[in-house]
Amino acid sequence: MKTDILNENDLKNLVDLFYGLVLKDEDLKPFFRKINFETHIPKMVQFWSFAIFETPGYTTNLFQVHQHMPLRKEQFSAWLALFNQTIDELFEGPNALKAKQRAMVIALGMESKIVS
Ligand code: HEM
Repeated sequence: MKTDILNENDLKNLVDLFYGLVLKDEDLKPFFRKINFETHIPKMVQFWSFAIFETPGYTTNLFQVHQHMPLRKEQFSAWLALFNQTIDELFEGPNALKAKQRAMVIALGMESKIVS
């Protein structure tokens, strides 16, 4: 039986599986070619801990981080679909739903600012 996202270890599993899928996606993987995952994954875990558990300390402006990337609408849709797929594969419950809702709101906000 699936459980909800309960702690940072769950977030680590979420982020690891998500990037496993992202790096198999021909359209998304080029964005991560130069990214050091040893430092990137802990940042993602910290971000999701802030977004789901309200853990203080994550202050990065996500719009600024993504602003320079040549992102198109379809890539946001692909990113979101893989994120939702990852959550549904691993978890079930209020935090799982909250993660999907946060991801959607942030992705749509970013998309409306970045995609011309
Ligand atoms: C097509 C969609 C997206 C692509 C291709 C993408 C790609 C990337 C890349 C390449 C980085 C690393 C930037 C760097 O370190 O130089 C990054 C960072 C990050 N992204 Fe995205 N991203 C996308 C959407 C999103 C969305 C929708 C969210 C949140 C819901 C998100 C959350 C983050 C976070 C938390 C970081 C780490 C920022 C930091 O603390 O340094 N991304 N993204």
